[in-house]
Amino acid sequence: MATTDYEKYIRTDELLALQKKPEELSCHDELQFQIVHQASELYMKQVEHELRFFAVLIAEDKTPRAVTALRRVGTIQRVLLHSIDLLDTMAPTDYMTIRLGLGRGSGQESPGFRTMLKLPGEVVWPAFEAFLARQGVTVRQIYDHPHDHHTLFQLCESLLDYDQLLQTWRYRHLMLVYRIIGAGTPSLKGKHSDLLMHGMKTRFFPDLWDVREDVFGDWTKAQEAKGNAPGYHG
Ligand code: HEM
Repeated sequence: MATTDYEKYIRTDELLALQKKPEELSCHDELQFQIVHQASELYMKQVEHELRFFAVLIAEDKTPRAVTALRRVGTIQRVLLHSIDLLDTMAPTDYMTIRLGLGRGSGQESPGFRTMLKLPGEVVWPAFEAFLARQGVTVRQIYDHPHDHHTLFQLCESLLDYDQLLQTWRYRHLMLVYRIIGAGTPSLKGKHSDLLMHGMKTRFFPDLWDVREDVFGDWTKAQEAKGNAPGYHG
């Protein structure tokens, strides 16, 4: 029963009752498995909170605070990334024991992750595109002259960080999967590793990736016109 203000505010009673009791654990490592997943869901909930806030800020042209919001999202993503290290310390046989109690449960059903996949296209980019239109500037102009559009460039790069960190998480998780169940273990839909590789091709903000190619392509052509041969787009 919570007695201190800390316990009441943090709701430690409810929070600490969300994991299996020691006598219910299928093996020692199950507590860590549950905690890493539960903590990840909480952090992904916070990512959603911050991304929705970003979209509101940018709709109101409040750029400095939007920069800060995105910086925080990246910081949370790095926490998510590092928390995978904990599961590297688990033996494959312990995972097998835990797996028996998971039924058909799969990380693909994670509500937090699904939201992180959905928000860029449904909420973040539409708000950002409308903002750029109001600013009267295109992505290409920002990348042609990044230092003349310092804050806008920072915003674009922070969105690209989101994309990169999400895909880095996917890659890191794939290494964990290789480590625990191996690369060739099949699922009903094919090899797990092939399924996961497929997701890694996603680009959440494709315009921000494409613009690099465009800028580089035009620079290469300009160099060639001057008789230089930089060797790209040859
Ligand atoms: C022992 C550790 C883990 C193993 C062996 C494992 C295994 C897998 C496998 C095999 C898949 C492929 C989908 C499927 O066939 O079910 C998957 C997907 C996924 N797992 Fe894990 N996982 C582990 C830890 C985690 C953790 C800590 C999280 C954090 C929330 C997580 C979140 C996810 C997500 C979000 C997907 C879908 C990924 C995507 O669509 O790109 N997994 N996992």
